[in-house]
Amino acid sequence: MSQSKKPKSSGNREGFLIFMVVGCGILATLSFNSLTKSDAPQDEHAVTKQGAQSQRDVRKKKDKLVALLDIPLSTGNEPLDKLFVQSGCAVCHTIPGIAPAKGRQGPKLVLGTNGPKRLADSNYQGTAETVREYIQESILKPGMYVVPGYSDRVMPRWYGKRLNAKALDRIATYLEGLKE
Ligand code: HEC
Repeated sequence: MSQSKKPKSSGNREGFLIFMVVGCGILATLSFNSLTKSDAPQDEHAVTKQGAQSQRDVRKKKDKLVALLDIPLSTGNEPLDKLFVQSGCAVCHTIPGIAPAKGRQGPKLVLGTNGPKRLADSNYQGTAETVREYIQESILKPGMYVVPGYSDRVMPRWYGKRLNAKALDRIATYLEGLKE
């Protein structure tokens, strides 16, 4: 009985040894592979993590910006010069009678003189019929007509959200009367 067991157990040992050697070989290959490749996947992971992080940052910034952009710029009751400064117009436009408004990004605002010219321009494709409507349209939908010599998309597109009716009304009344 003990004789019949011996070869069996030695066979098991051989099998075990073979298993160990092959197993170690596989393990060594695997660990070598993962060692040599470990940099790449780790980096990839770091990059996607970083990407996600910066995307989150951008989204946060955007949310903040949108929140700021939703706030009205004025009550509409401010003195006129304050109204033009607070609304940002003064940064880009020169406005006669408004001392701080010396901007040069956009045309000088003399709509009493230039308004009728814009409406008469054969390139005018807006919907305004009066100078007052043209002023309102220029503020609320700047893309409807781009004053020759100036760039589109410079004047902000969000005034419709950030100027209330009173502010818009007072701005239009003032600009309508400016001539040169
Ligand atoms: C970031 C610069 C910028 C700001 C801020 C800005 N504008 Fe302008 N605006 C422009 C530019 C550039 C043009 C010319 C291109 C165009 O027609 O869109 C223009 C055109 C206009 C026109 C048409 C003028 C014309 O002669 O036909 C009016 C009216 C006007 N802006 C009013 C305003 C008012 C009112 C504000 C503030 C509530 C304002 N803009 C704020 C840049 C600006």
